[in-house]
Amino acid sequence: MRRLIWLALVFTAASGACTGRADFERMRQQQRADPFGPAMRVPPSGAVRYGQREGAAADDSEAVAKGERVFLSVCAVCHGADASGRSVVAANIPGNPPPPLNGGHVTAMTDADVFFVISHGRNRMPAFDWSLPASDRWAVIAYLRRLPLVPHAESSQ
Ligand code: HEC
Repeated sequence: MRRLIWLALVFTAASGACTGRADFERMRQQQRADPFGPAMRVPPSGAVRYGQREGAAADDSEAVAKGERVFLSVCAVCHGADASGRSVVAANIPGNPPPPLNGGHVTAMTDADVFFVISHGRNRMPAFDWSLPASDRWAVIAYLRRLPLVPHAESSQ
């Protein structure tokens, strides 16, 4: 009886080793990323790294005045008329709230990155590339850059 058990044990171990080897061979031959080459996918054409986008808002009073009109009619409803990030929408929106635009992390963003966010949106913030001409999107940044900076307790980001 004992011998039989040993035999069974040896047999299972051997067959296990065999299938293990076959699996290992399959694993070795599968398509895989080259650990010594770039494992990242090729970015889509036209993709730009965050912080490396180009373009800057104008700084003339005409752009600023136009930007103020755009801001008050489009952005203020969420970001607050004083750009502080306080508004009825902000108090009720699920997810990340609209951040203040006159202080905090937005002032550290480049004009081009702010333009990108206004154009394409971000999470709950809608995109405006279809409704605001580019000149309006740049103008609103010109306006934001003129706002006096206010220290804010930074939001979740
Ligand atoms: C419907 C409400 C809404 C409107 C209208 C709106 N925003 Fe926002 N905005 C948000 C929310 C919500 C966020 C936070 C998004 C996130 O980080 O998840 C945000 C984020 C931002 C940010 C920060 C993006 C970042 O990368 O952290 C900027 C800049 C901004 N908005 C500018 C604007 C400007 C300028 C306008 C007007 C053209 C505008 N927003 C209109 C809701 C809005």
